[in-house]
Amino acid sequence: MATCALILAAGKGERFGREGGKLWTLVGGMPVLEWTLRAFQEHPEVEHLVLVGRGEELSHLRQVANHYRKIVAVVPGGAERWQSVQAGLDAVPPEDSWVLVHDGARAAVSADLISRVLRATRETGAAVPVLRVADTLKWVGSRQTVQATLPRRRREGDEEWQLMAVQTPQGFAVELLRRAYAQYDFENHPPTDDAMVVEPVHPVSVVPGDPQNLKLTYPEDLPQLEAALLGRGETRTGFGYDVHPFIEGRPLMLGGVQIPSPRGLAGHSDADVVLHAIIDALLGAAGMDDIGTLFPNTDPAYRNADSAQLLAQAWARVREQGWTLVNVDVTVLAETPRLRPHVPAMRERIAAVLQTETDRVNLKATTNERLGFVGREEGIACYAVATLRR
Ligand code: CTP
Ligand code: MG
Repeated sequence: MATCALILAAGKGERFGREGGKLWTLVGGMPVLEWTLRAFQEHPEVEHLVLVGRGEELSHLRQVANHYRKIVAVVPGGAERWQSVQAGLDAVPPEDSWVLVHDGARAAVSADLISRVLRATRETGAAVPVLRVADTLKWVGSRQTVQATLPRRRREGDEEWQLMAVQTPQGFAVELLRRAYAQYDFENHPPTDDAMVVEPVHPVSVVPGDPQNLKLTYPEDLPQLEAALLGRGETRTGFGYDVHPFIEGRPLMLGGVQIPSPRGLAGHSDADVVLHAIIDALLGAAGMDDIGTLFPNTDPAYRNADSAQLLAQAWARVREQGWTLVNVDVTVLAETPRLRPHVPAMRERIAAVLQTETDRVNLKATTNERLGFVGREEGIACYAVATLRR
């Protein structure tokens, strides 16, 4: 009884009207459409995704689709939304019993909402999320005058009807939606959502919608969508520590910068303790183990390795999991050489490798007041913390 989500991304975005289209607008560094895809990719009750896109964007969409393992098909849509749904329905795998039709432009769809719609869909065959309408709705003529007012409530027999706003995802038994689409009179009653197609053949039940689940339609919707997507992000902190002993005859690499010094540090790689501590802090925040697991020091590939490259690789892995950097803070413990003059260069280099602003990377150097192994000038130690947001 598998579930397929049909993600609609074949619209022109005319009302949004900005260069590049609304679905490719970046929020927190990721296109709106990918926020939508990710919500369904990560939902445990959705097995498959079908992506419906514009013909001219298909090759790009297929590249994007490579990052989402649940996507089983990327198909071209039609001129009208309902035609895009029809095209997508043809690509729903035969083993799927349930389909969720969702606007690609509703990027802030929550896991709870998806679950709620699915539960009601399995019980009733067809379910849509609705919101009560708070405003009074009026017909306004092209000469900018009010022509009529819609009643918000009305009596029908022994029932009271209420005007509601309808969102997506809309859930249906696949077989029902296919049948409804095959019978519907599109010519005379162009539908504006999928429930409208199903209503003549099957009752459609409702579940509470989510006010955060807004559809990006006009440019002025963007700040609200950003707040919904970024405001609820998860924040995590990780900690890293590393130490390397001094050795003669090696350059001293710290923070990706070569520091003038009579001695360098011993290690399998270039022994950059600062970058190693940062790698562990980033991996720690992301819950991704440690530097030794990612780059085993028994592997000859990492002999004399440039730690800046290791950091870049580790950071790419962390970013693939959806994390963005809030900040990194570092304390280096070195009795010698004096590091203060090199701090700006180290900060800039680290920020460049992490592709972030320099003020997100802080670095302090301290001596150990002649105490312990650092104080005896036997080696250099480094602590780092990193905070990430997803
Ligand atoms: N959509 C689609 N095929 C269409 C029209 C719309 O797949 N022929 C998709 C859109 O990409 C969007 C969703 O349906 O994700 C809801 O449509 P809407 O918000 O109206 O988006 P657009 O049609 O792109 O915008 P506009 O109407 O302003 O042109
Ligand atoms: Mg439209």
